Amino acid sequence: MTNWKEIDQKAKEWVKEAGEIIRKSFDSALSIQFKSNPNDLVTNMDKEIEQFLISRIQTTYPNHRILGEEGYGDDVTDLKGVVWIIDPIDGTMNFVHQQRNFAISIGIYEEGVGYIGLIYDVVHDELYHAFKGEGAYMNDIRLPKLDSVPIEEAIIGISPVWVTENKRIDHTKIIPIVKKVRGTRSYGSAAMECAYVASGRLDAYMTMRLAPWDFAAGLVLVNEVGGKATTLEGTELDLLSKNTFFIGESSLHKHLLEEYIQK
Ligand code: IPD
Ligand code: CA
Ligand code: CA
Repeated sequence: MTNWKEIDQKAKEWVKEAGEIIRKSFDSALSIQFKSNPNDLVTNMDKEIEQFLISRIQTTYPNHRILGEEGYGDDVTDLKGVVWIIDPIDGTMNFVHQQRNFAISIGIYEEGVGYIGLIYDVVHDELYHAFKGEGAYMNDIRLPKLDSVPIEEAIIGISPVWVTENKRIDHTKIIPIVKKVRGTRSYGSAAMECAYVASGRLDAYMTMRLAPWDFAAGLVLVNEVGGKATTLEGTELDLLSKNTFFIGESSLHKHLLEEYIQK
C-alpha cells in the first residue's frame, strides 16, 4: 500500500531544499534560453530544480513516474500508479525579471486521484500544501473552506490578454466579467494563482491554456477548501494535455460559467 504520509513528508523536505537552492542562486548569473517563442523562457535553474527533484524521487521511489515540464522525467501517457506532476519554476518570466512571484509546484496522484499538492512560494517562504481529505494549509495555518462570494465583491485572476481580441476565446464574453467584479489581478504564475484561490486571496482565476504541471498541485489544494476547477467549457480537466482552465469559489465558478462564459 502507498505510504502517503511518508511521501508527503519527503516531498515537503525536497521542495524546501529546492527552494533553498533557488534562493542561493539569486547572486549568480542566469543562463536564459527561449522555448516555443521569445517570451517563453527557460533558465538553467528550471532545469536544475527539475533534475534535483527527480533524482530524489527516483532514488526513494523507483516505481513512481514523473511528468515534469522540462522533460527530465518519464514519458507519461497514462495516470496508472503513482505519478508526480512537477513544475520546477512556475512563473519563469517573473523569476527572470523580478526574482519573485514564482513557485515550485508538485502534484502527486495515484490512478488519476490527487493525494498531495504543494505550491512553494520560495521568496516568501510560503508553502501551500494539501493532503487529500485532511485539508489545505499555508505553512502551519489551516485554510478555511471558501465562503460564497457575490460577483460584485470578487477579485479574479485574469490576464489582460483575454480582454483583447484573441484566438482562444470570444473576448466580448470576458469584458462584462471584468466590468462587474470588484477587481482583477494577473500574477503571472498559474500555480500561485491557484494557491491564492485556495487561500481566498483571489476568488477565481481563469486562463485559456495551461499544462498539467501548472495546475496539478492547485487542483488538490482547491478541492480541500471546497472550491471548483474545470475547463472553461465546464468539463473535467485532463492531467495529460493542455486545457482551458477555470478555478474558483464554487458558487462564483458556477455563476461565471452559466451567466457569462457559456451564455
Ligand atoms: C506559465 C505561468 C503563466 C501562465 C503560462 C504558464 P511557466 O508557466 O504559469 O502564469 O500564464 O501559461 O506556461 O512557463 O512560467 O512555468
Ligand atoms: Ca508553468
Ligand atoms: Ca515552469
